[in-house]
Amino acid sequence: MTQAYKLFMLRFFWSIFLISVVVPTYNERDNIVELIRRIDNALVGIDYEVVVVDDNSPDGTADIAEELSRYYPVRVIRRPSKLGLATAVLDGVRSSRGEYVVVMDADLQHPPEVIPKMYEELIKGYDIVIASRYVVGGSISGWSFTRRLISKAAILIAKLLIPKARSIEDPTSGFFMFRREVLEGINLSPKGFKILLEVLVKGRYSRVSEIPYTFGVRVRGTSKLSSKELINYIKHILILTPYKTLFKFLVVGSLGTLVNLGILYMLRYFLGIEHLIASALSIESSIINNYVFHELWTFKDRRLGSWLVRLIKFHGSTALAVTTQYITSQILHYILGVESITSQFVGILLGFIVNYILSTRFVWRKSKS
Ligand code: GDD
Ligand code: MN
Repeated sequence: MTQAYKLFMLRFFWSIFLISVVVPTYNERDNIVELIRRIDNALVGIDYEVVVVDDNSPDGTADIAEELSRYYPVRVIRRPSKLGLATAVLDGVRSSRGEYVVVMDADLQHPPEVIPKMYEELIKGYDIVIASRYVVGGSISGWSFTRRLISKAAILIAKLLIPKARSIEDPTSGFFMFRREVLEGINLSPKGFKILLEVLVKGRYSRVSEIPYTFGVRVRGTSKLSSKELINYIKHILILTPYKTLFKFLVVGSLGTLVNLGILYMLRYFLGIEHLIASALSIESSIINNYVFHELWTFKDRRLGSWLVRLIKFHGSTALAVTTQYITSQILHYILGVESITSQFVGILLGFIVNYILSTRFVWRKSKS
């Protein structure tokens, strides 16, 4: 089916709108009226709908929104309890019918007057437009130093671990607009607050634009962003990152080093065992420790065939890694004249890479299916 034909059918049978504005709400009774009024003003002459997704707010936000639907093109989705911002946005997007979808907060920190500018960008051919606090012309009013720092740190983490967020200045924005096709048929599983990251990683798009806006002060009601959301954010990033296996491998490797040193300490100073033997036992303990964690965590869905074969192969992999480390360190030090610690460190890095490659390709292979 061609795109134009599909659109025609949709318009005809399902009264499609030009723009859908998805607004998640939780206890926003004091903001919702002004929000809808300002959206209506900003979108005058445009065929739009507002989808309010309310999580059974105790303050009766949903009833007020329902009341507003008598005067404005507003639809209310009532969910039974506080199920979270990201899933609220998702439910709203799913039930929306616009060719273009805007996601924004209800508390007026996202000024509705920016929507027409975002729409213009989409018309120019962009697929996603992000209202951004961090491009030239954008800003934040009324944030403490700590909140600014947390925001910057969150963005840094996203850029490090999610390649698709790298070219974007404000990948944690909660205010963005996109063509319906970007998410059509795509399975999202958002956690916590940051639905935009999910869209950037899984969506179907080629061009993203950011336009500046000023993140306003919340005049009425309170923020729902708690420290719990920070943990959710990290969890979400770890789900989205393509470096998950590498990350786990690093964590287990570091743990193994601690085990290695810890056991050595015990054997030497509590049991008085000779260094020659204690050292060997510690190394073996750390290999077994790493093996167990890789089996149960890093590669838990790659356990093909016999565990004993993997245990032996992992010993082989580790032995090769250590050899690589040793040879690299000697070459750097004796032939290239590099200082000891640096030589050893580069050796460790190369050894790690060897171990990682062998472990993922040879010890814990991906199943073909
Ligand atoms: N339905 C529903 N369920 N809505 C919720 C929930 C929930 O559990 N939690 C929050 N909301 C709604 C609020 O009512 C508000 O409309 C919007 O989501 C944002 O919540 P705030 O509590 O105001 O968040 P914030 O101001 O700290 O952070 C916002 O702005 C940041 C900067 O753009 C969020 O949009 C962040 O995602 C964004 O990064
Ligand atoms: Mn807010």
